[in-house]
Amino acid sequence: MGKLDNKVAIVTGGGSGIGAATANLLAQEGAKVLIVGRTEAKLKATVESLNNPNISYFVADVSKGADAEAYVAEAVKRYGGVDICVANAGIFRELIPTHLMSEDHFDEVMNVNVKGAWLSIKYSLPEMQKRGGGAIVLISSVAASGGFGAHTAYTASKHAVIGVMRSAFLDALPMGVRINVISPGTIENDMMAGLESSASPDNPQAVKDMMIQRIPMKRYGKNEEIAQGILYLVSDASTYVAGVNLEIDGGISNSLM
Ligand SMILES: NC(=O)c1ccc[n+]([C@@H]2O[C@H](COP(=O)([O-])OP(=O)(O)OC[C@H]3O[C@@H](n4cnc5c(N)ncnc54)[C@H](OP(=O)(O)O)[C@@H]3O)[C@@H](O)[C@H]2O)c1
Repeated sequence: MGKLDNKVAIVTGGGSGIGAATANLLAQEGAKVLIVGRTEAKLKATVESLNNPNISYFVADVSKGADAEAYVAEAVKRYGGVDICVANAGIFRELIPTHLMSEDHFDEVMNVNVKGAWLSIKYSLPEMQKRGGGAIVLISSVAASGGFGAHTAYTASKHAVIGVMRSAFLDALPMGVRINVISPGTIENDMMAGLESSASPDNPQAVKDMMIQRIPMKRYGKNEEIAQGILYLVSDASTYVAGVNLEIDGGISNSLM
């Protein structure tokens, strides 16, 4: 018997990294999972590689209201309702000093990371209420714990994700829905590899070594370690937990090292 038998979950950004690991774990625990992203080939390849009949995909851009309405409606049509939503889709773009950043860069990061998270709540909450309750997890970042040069849009967006949660969870609780945030630290995946290359195209390994030195646990985290935290927050193991920002980051957010 799984921890999520008979549950229906949406995982945005489920075609790669943290989202794919989360879809895999939630499905292993018995949930039917709809993964959402913009790139059909990536979603299809992930569904095939995870090889679980309870995982399927839907192409949508989380920053667009009509798309968010559509992925929630598709989960209802395909699986009968929605109990869990993991608003994980996010973009980083390149490192760039604040005064050189384009308006397009700022708008795109805010639209995907912040508006996308809010839209996932807006459309999934009423469906969860129809089922008697549910759980939503938004994904912020260690970038919400402080500043980091050349990261202005991303840092602002990840602070804002926590702001969205801190207001929305109060609206959601009377509807039987718990909303929490997970803030991953540096995770061993394509997004971090992109950041390392953006910081030092000639020597990304040097950036990684420098980052690792700052982490009290002296290593990057794994996608699966974030997925375990998400499972906790969407399962009955956390029925008294709401409005929390759970940092899964090897200790870096709470360290002055
Ligand atoms: N990697 C880290 O170290 C780290 C640290 C802290 C926080 N995070 C956060 O963790 C979350 C997952 O990131 P990840 O590390 O797993 O990186 P990732 O592999 O780049 O995953 C991001 C996913 O989001 C999807 N996505 C991006 N924009 C989208 C949009 N507009 N609509 C729908 N889907 C969209 C991407 O697919 P498409 O491009 O095909 O749409 C991709 O599958 C993000 O919110 C990220 O900010 C990551």
